[in-house]
Amino acid sequence: MKSSSTHNSATYSTTAKLFHWMVAALILVQLTLAQLAKWAAQDDNTLERLALLANHKSLGLTVLLLIIVRIGWRLTHRPPALPPHMNRLQRIASHMSHTGLYVLMLAMPLSGLIMSAASAYGLSWFNMFEVPKVLAPNEGLSDAAKNAHELLGYVFIAVIVLHVVAAIYHHLLVKDDILKRMSSRLSIGLFALLVGGLTLSLTPGSGGQDSALESTQDASLTPVTAPRSVKSAASAESWSINHELSFIRFTAEQAGAEFDGEWPQWEANITFSKEPLSIDINVEIEVNKADTSDEERDTTLMDSDWFDATQFPVARFSLDNATRNDDGSYTGPGLLTIKNKTTPVEFNFTIETNNGMHTLTGASQLDRLTLGVGTGEWMDTSWVGQFVGVDVRVVAQ
Ligand code: HEM
Ligand code: HEM
Repeated sequence: MKSSSTHNSATYSTTAKLFHWMVAALILVQLTLAQLAKWAAQDDNTLERLALLANHKSLGLTVLLLIIVRIGWRLTHRPPALPPHMNRLQRIASHMSHTGLYVLMLAMPLSGLIMSAASAYGLSWFNMFEVPKVLAPNEGLSDAAKNAHELLGYVFIAVIVLHVVAAIYHHLLVKDDILKRMSSRLSIGLFALLVGGLTLSLTPGSGGQDSALESTQDASLTPVTAPRSVKSAASAESWSINHELSFIRFTAEQAGAEFDGEWPQWEANITFSKEPLSIDINVEIEVNKADTSDEERDTTLMDSDWFDATQFPVARFSLDNATRNDDGSYTGPGLLTIKNKTTPVEFNFTIETNNGMHTLTGASQLDRLTLGVGTGEWMDTSWVGQFVGVDVRVVAQ
């Protein structure tokens, strides 16, 4: 990539310098965020790790764009020729290390992007907009990209260290102008500003955003329970549920990106009569079986700040009263009990009956803060959304 010759300019152009020091700053901050996230994981500080990784991903996407532009520019602009005192070996080393740096600059964010895109996590850019999902969740691909990202990370750090040592060697020992020709006050000032500013603003606890990405979320749903006063009419019939065709799912948001989950294990007792209207719904959900297609997130959901699933493995929802709306749907005041705390929630649903099969389809928008799900530092709703959409379908005879 770096071709010598013909170009006599002794120094890199302003554009080359700005690109070099801006990208170098962003990459150094990237490596810092990744290392801090590793330490946070060792300290079992899930929220901090999520925050750091959310910022790492957002900044990583930014670097990726910048690097693509830089490489495009570099392919059409030659660097200045190396000084004549450098021998053949040094020239080859310089050429190879710079080419390697360009390849790694591209491979790092790309492997990170593939790891993220193929995982069950959504991806957002600094919580401002969601990056469209380009890949379907694929655990094998995500794991392979993760291994590559980790391995390339070590190689990248090693090559950067060599690169910096070479620059310092030229400057202090050889005393040539290699470092000077890549530097200017403006580019070094920008470098220092970016490293300082980004580290401060993207590191939780240092006065910047808190973050947390991860996710988690929440929770979900469900229901249940409670005080129940049945008011079943004589003609109300009890449903025999077909679990294969039924589900309780939820959609939540983490770091600005949506994700879905399901509670695969639940039992419901439903009796219903259309005329006169009578309904009684009681559901018990095993919250410790939440499945959001991501093990780490599922585990987080079991924590005491979330569902405290060891102590309260079951959530309950009950509803024994509903009114029919003009469009034939129903709205009822339900009671949702999570962690022994019962909260009223409005449940909107329809019930269709065809050939003896009932299909109840319902949805509810839950406020996790009201339900006490995601307490402590997780109450920061900028990272884990406050509202959780719940979708229910129950098919029964
Ligand atoms: C120049 C850009 C990037 C650099 C230099 C970089 C570097 C790193 C490094 C060194 C690690 C620690 C790996 C380990 O030893 O465990 C890491 C982890 C991680 N990176 Fe990046 N990364 C970059 C871009 C990205 C992008 C664009 C994404 C996603 C969109 C991303 C997502 C992640 C994730 C999720 C982890 C944590 C993996 C885990 O431990 O679960 N990275 N990154
Ligand atoms: C993450 C960090 C860095 C990356 C990825 C990186 C990458 C690169 C690349 C690809 C080039 C070749 C530019 C070209 O000819 O197109 C280059 C040149 C250079 N870099 Fe870095 N760099 C980083 C950090 C640094 C640091 C911290 C220093 C100084 C201490 C430095 C000093 C230099 C110098 C002096 C040159 C010019 C070499 C020459 O004249 O041929 N770099 N860097």
